[in-house]
Amino acid sequence: MNVIRTVSELRQAVADAKAKGLTVGLVPTMGALHAGHLSLIDRARRECGFVVVSDFVNPTQFNNKEDLITYPRTEAADCEKMDNAGVDVAFIPSVEEIYPEPDTRVFDLGPVAEVMEGAMRPGHFNGVAQIVSKLFSIVEPDKAYFGEKDFQQIAVIRRMVELEGFKLEIVDCPILREADGLAMSSRNVRLDAEHRRLAPEIHRALQESVDYASTHTVGETERFVTDRINSTGDLETEYYQIVDALTMQPVDKGVSPAKGMVGCVTVYCGGVRLIDNIKY
Ligand code: PAF
Repeated sequence: MNVIRTVSELRQAVADAKAKGLTVGLVPTMGALHAGHLSLIDRARRECGFVVVSDFVNPTQFNNKEDLITYPRTEAADCEKMDNAGVDVAFIPSVEEIYPEPDTRVFDLGPVAEVMEGAMRPGHFNGVAQIVSKLFSIVEPDKAYFGEKDFQQIAVIRRMVELEGFKLEIVDCPILREADGLAMSSRNVRLDAEHRRLAPEIHRALQESVDYASTHTVGETERFVTDRINSTGDLETEYYQIVDALTMQPVDKGVSPAKGMVGCVTVYCGGVRLIDNIKY
């Protein structure tokens, strides 16, 4: 595996691969790699001749300084995992390499970015659009892989791709879970033992809501999930919203949850902000 830290070397490595006729797959990550990331890499490996994984904690998408400072950074372990997974290039740039000057671009991401994470984390999705568009411009991948745990992020990235006219396929990949159901996340390592024990209740509540939803409305199902999570230890739901899975817009609270809707939740678990979702 080639570890590359500069944009010019990355452009060259990708150009060489394309000259050999290889399809290029990109897996953007912020490092602290876990089995969820490895499943994206595995899919890219199976579908593309040349796989680039970016490992970069992007400061412009953090609206909370503390979150940026405490975000786990595990470069040596990440490199070992990427190498074992058959990655061709690990792109691990410095902040200065990516942002030699401040990125002042403001993307017109529209309604898809205004709700849920967009409402709770002002500027977050604009920062995601900044880094992902930079990576797409540098690598010009045929396919890019994203995990469905960040369900709204994928919708926002699709919107950015449409705005910028990138020609590539966005591949969304299913959530990987721990044996007890907790969605895999780089943030899970920050849970203490007690909160690690409580955290799987988030997925349990979402699963139970599928049965509940068959005889209740969207509004009732949202309350069911929120109450169920909030009654577990000191878990605290920031929002649970059932939305249209394509537009991310809230659906009629009076109808039953149905196919094409997704429920997205954010929960504070001992100071760690966890997200998860379920499709109806
Ligand atoms: O999902 C993530 O890890 C990040 O938001 C991404 C897409 C790598 C951009 O920094």
